[in-house]
Amino acid sequence: MPQHISLTQFLIDEQRAGRVSADLGLLLQALAQSVAAIAATVSKGALAGALGEAGTENVQGEAQKKLDVIANDILIQANEWGGYLGAMASEELEFVCQIPSSATRGDYLLLFDPLDGSSNIDVNVTIGTIFSVLRNPQAKDKEPTEADFLQPGRDQIAAGYATYGPSTQLVLTLGDGVHGFTLDRETGGFLHTHPFMTVPTEACEYAINASNVRHWEAPVQRYIAELQQGRDGPRGCDFNMRWIASMVADVHRVLTRGGIFMYPLDEKCRAKGGKLRLMYEANPMAMLIEQAGGAATTGRGRILDIIPERLHQRVPVILGSRIEVERVTSYHLDLES
Ligand code: AHG
Ligand code: MN
Ligand code: MN
Repeated sequence: MPQHISLTQFLIDEQRAGRVSADLGLLLQALAQSVAAIAATVSKGALAGALGEAGTENVQGEAQKKLDVIANDILIQANEWGGYLGAMASEELEFVCQIPSSATRGDYLLLFDPLDGSSNIDVNVTIGTIFSVLRNPQAKDKEPTEADFLQPGRDQIAAGYATYGPSTQLVLTLGDGVHGFTLDRETGGFLHTHPFMTVPTEACEYAINASNVRHWEAPVQRYIAELQQGRDGPRGCDFNMRWIASMVADVHRVLTRGGIFMYPLDEKCRAKGGKLRLMYEANPMAMLIEQAGGAATTGRGRILDIIPERLHQRVPVILGSRIEVERVTSYHLDLES
């Protein structure tokens, strides 16, 4: 068996190198513990009473699954008392989640999508958790407001996701490359199994919900039509398609073996600005993909440069191997020139 260092040792090494503060280290350890707790519940499935509907709706007007609520509660309870957070924000909560008055506030803001890929929970397909860490611009004696969270993705201090698949992996960036850790279920520890993950620059694979083809804009229709022509078309390559419908799982595949992931603007989601949420889906994934050498855009601009207007804002997302992302972007430019 290969030897891997633990997440704890990795974080202490990062602290010694001056890349991580002690409080950020604590935050990331607490996140890892939350992920292990969510993974335990996910793996028990029906035995833990974790499947099915919660019978409630979130701020997005989406029906919540039991696991959306369980994962949200785990993340809040693990992080609210540590003293390193000013406040939290979640896909499942309409407003900023304040730190209880019994705890002290700290230097960071934490945002998360507690359970990504909710439509896959009850069919036992890979799901995940996504998170983003920002600096808390507010004085510690003041409650952070929504405005304090509205920072562009390029200012993220850390970002990551967990994927609950055949194994549980935690994929993390602190702004100095992307690192993957695998949960050892027997010890509960995370081991540094995937140092410096990089997105291959080219790959003949794409991920998009193709049932929306009639709703897409012309540049996306053109790009996908060219891929589908395969070896005989302008790309001269037989592209393969995969769509899991858990962003975490689809992006993890792109991060691992290259390709492109798209949830573009379309007529179905135009009024909302897109399908995926900027602050806790698009921004953390864009930071990870850029840190791994890939690119992430709305089709019209870099995701990490968007100045957010709302906590639950939605945006188009196109990310992955740089060459493919640049091609889709150029098709959008052609349309607008
Ligand atoms: P969530 O479960 O957090 O609401 O996110 C679901 C998102 C994302 O994970 C996935 O890429 C997309 O919705 C799937 O959308 P379709 O059902 O339209 O394919
Ligand atoms: Mn999601
Ligand atoms: Mn979710």
